[in-house]
Amino acid sequence: MPDVKTLAVIGSGQMGGGIAQIAATSGINAIAYDAHQGSLDKAKKLHEKLMARAVEKGRMEQADADAALGRITYTTKWDDMAGADWVVEAAVENAEVKADIFTKLAQTFDRDDVVLATNTSSISITQIAASAEVARAGAGQRVIGMHFFNPVPVMKLVEVINGLATSPEVTQRTIDLSKQMGKEPHAANDRAGFISNRVLMPMINEAFYAWMEGVAEPEDIDAIMRLGMAHPMGPLRLADFIGLDTCVFIMDVLAEGLNNDRYRACPLLKQLVTAGRLGDKTGRGVFDYSK
Ligand code: CAA
Ligand code: NAD
Repeated sequence: MPDVKTLAVIGSGQMGGGIAQIAATSGINAIAYDAHQGSLDKAKKLHEKLMARAVEKGRMEQADADAALGRITYTTKWDDMAGADWVVEAAVENAEVKADIFTKLAQTFDRDDVVLATNTSSISITQIAASAEVARAGAGQRVIGMHFFNPVPVMKLVEVINGLATSPEVTQRTIDLSKQMGKEPHAANDRAGFISNRVLMPMINEAFYAWMEGVAEPEDIDAIMRLGMAHPMGPLRLADFIGLDTCVFIMDVLAEGLNNDRYRACPLLKQLVTAGRLGDKTGRGVFDYSK
């Protein structure tokens, strides 16, 4: 199979921006596509800041940073992605949005060797692949879960999830590309939340229940988990970091997919989302980042 030369990333938020960045620093051309120009502007600014920091810290030569930045293009036009030979979808965690995107992907990318990967946190890969298969017979074989972690440039893991139709060749190429991007791939089966969010998200949800029931204040809940369990961030800080909207989306997928009410999102978590307090990305979630 040919090497990956150009990787398109759909969605240029926290995750898509990071994926485009590490593609570029791995020598791959990256096309950052987003429906909103504001997200692209924000991602570009962050890329410039993080590359400058890498140079300042002596981890990268200025010429390499410039070359990596030069490999990223930013666009709101779908057709600008047409020349890519790999796609990673990292738009919002919503099954209908992903179904729509994978229908369009199968229509746009007719070559059998273009992999259509999704960075979904929890949604069934088989379900996402079905939209591609309906749009183009055989396209479901090219759909795979390639789940990066936040912040992408720092976290080592890629969780690799096959759908029912994913071809073994696509799985192997995903493992190879993850390694080329400096990551360590590990496999999980296609069940709601896979391994990572099946284990992580109920803990975060429980922290919201503990806060709602007055068991402790948010600062104390987080300190207890940081100091007692050696977690780098407490669960409430981590929820803000992930995005409270994404946490609710994931809990909804777990509750439905695993058919168990114990996965229902905590009412307090949902209330914060309703109030627009989504965490770091809006400047306020559990904690206030405006200062
Ligand atoms: N993008 C790129 N680099 C970042 C970054 C970001 N958003 N945030 C921090 N970094 C880098 C910093 O630049 C710094 O590197 P340098 O010093 O070399 O410049 C390094 O990470 C450490 O950062 P800090 O010293 O500022 O802070 P820290 O030591 O507290 O580490 C952290 C920050 C890496 C985020 C750490 O707190 C951590 O590991 N937190 C837990 C993260 C986690 O659990 N992620 C998984 C979320 S769940 C998920 O991703 C799956 C899902 O589907 C929801
Ligand atoms: P985000 O809210 O930061 O960014 C989502 C981006 O997608 C936004 O820029 C938005 O404009 C764009 N978008 C929405 N609909 C679109 C469409 N139809 N076409 C093109 N762009 C569209 O979200 P995020 O945290 O980057 O999460 C993205 C995906 O990655 C989700 O599926 C999420 O579950 C998954 N994920 C998130 C994390 C995390 O910690 N936040 C970790 C791993 C995986």
